[in-house]
Amino acid sequence: MRLTVLGGGGFRLPLVYGALLGDRTEGRITRLVLHDVDAGRLGAVARVLADQAAGVPDAPEVTLTTDLDEALRGADFVFSAIRVGGLEGRAADERIALAEGVLGQETVGAGGIAYGLRTVPVAEEIARRTARLAPGAWVINFTNPAGLVTEAMSRHLGDRVIGICDSPVGLGRRVARTLGIDPETAWFDYAGLNHLGWLRGVRAAGRDELPRLLADRELLGSFEEGRLFGADWLQSLGAIPNEYLHYYYFNRETVRAYRDAERTRGAFLREQQGRFYREMERPGAPALETWDRTRAEREATYMAHNREAAGAGERAASDLESGGYEKVALALMGAIAQDRRTTLILNVRNRGALAPLDADAVVEVPCLVDANGAHPVSVSPLPGHATGLVCAVKAVEREVLAAAESGSRERAVAAFALHPLVDSVAVARRLVDAYSAAHPGLGYLR
Ligand code: G6P
Ligand code: MN
Repeated sequence: MRLTVLGGGGFRLPLVYGALLGDRTEGRITRLVLHDVDAGRLGAVARVLADQAAGVPDAPEVTLTTDLDEALRGADFVFSAIRVGGLEGRAADERIALAEGVLGQETVGAGGIAYGLRTVPVAEEIARRTARLAPGAWVINFTNPAGLVTEAMSRHLGDRVIGICDSPVGLGRRVARTLGIDPETAWFDYAGLNHLGWLRGVRAAGRDELPRLLADRELLGSFEEGRLFGADWLQSLGAIPNEYLHYYYFNRETVRAYRDAERTRGAFLREQQGRFYREMERPGAPALETWDRTRAEREATYMAHNREAAGAGERAASDLESGGYEKVALALMGAIAQDRRTTLILNVRNRGALAPLDADAVVEVPCLVDANGAHPVSVSPLPGHATGLVCAVKAVEREVLAAAESGSRERAVAAFALHPLVDSVAVARRLVDAYSAAHPGLGYLR
């Protein structure tokens, strides 16, 4: 089995490779092709992978390339994990929105729209080429904003593209641990869009255990989402929101915290990651050790400003263990390649799973996965407030797709203006001007 990773010079690659090294099943990945537009980054990551593979028998063979077509040909699976515009672009997405007093974040609000406008044309080109050069391949999309980008790619690949995010897994794992139940056997009733979902129930041995959590303020105060949102609000909602909903429910506080911060997350990562890649150029640098230290620092500071704004304190050590991102990816590939039936929360075309949205809208819901792909499970309706948000944000995503397709500046303005976290059409117009000036990737808007 051959896996191609687009964005193969990315920092999270060693997580995926670590999971591949631990996979002893028949039909596992034996060849890994890493593609990146930056050969230097590829080399850096390859050094970490070589350290990881030392002493592991039958480690997957790693090939590096900067030629996209060569990378795609012969692939059984394609992971798309690119960052159009790099961390420089992410920092600009954040900074420009915050300067207008609205949320500047990687995937949410104005920042996420800018990132989407930049990424969709590139993702669609990748999808078109994959359909041509590797028509039998399954594409697993990690590229953010993952729901929107998966929907863009599905226009060319149909249900052969499946989007992944680790946040629902992380949420499920934290809630299960708090309740003292095994996350492997529990059923998580989670639904919404990527970074915009709610956990409404946790079924174990035929019983919904979530009401027990919602009734216990002490338990609610003992895990990340409980501390972030506060017990009162979780009890009002009667559900546990994805951590990204903190940007909606406490928008004013997060915008203030982000604006007052010395650096945005993107600017911090630009420096931190820049240091890592430079360090990797030094002969004899301890690759795996340096990567691991950088990773630990990155994870420990994840959403630090939100936690600060919420008075949530440090991130619990138990939440720092990895296991989301790469585990979902491996489980998904195994289920498809070996027809090992499993259930995973994934981003797929709706096909009736989530009532108010049309069949082609990509949603994030539990899916049954087997050799035929990911089949969304129909879920109970979202409550009115959640339906409202989901429909509003999906409408914004559709404006982004329309803008990318037509090159229409007006559609791009509409995308910003219709977002629930952008409070004026005038702001939307200025955002389009400022983002167009900052990002060469938005030159297509007329
Ligand atoms: C989570 C989300 C990803 C997101 C990442 C950002 O893992 O699910 O979609 O890209 O956080 O983390 P970062 O360290 O880049 O701020
Ligand atoms: Mn995500």
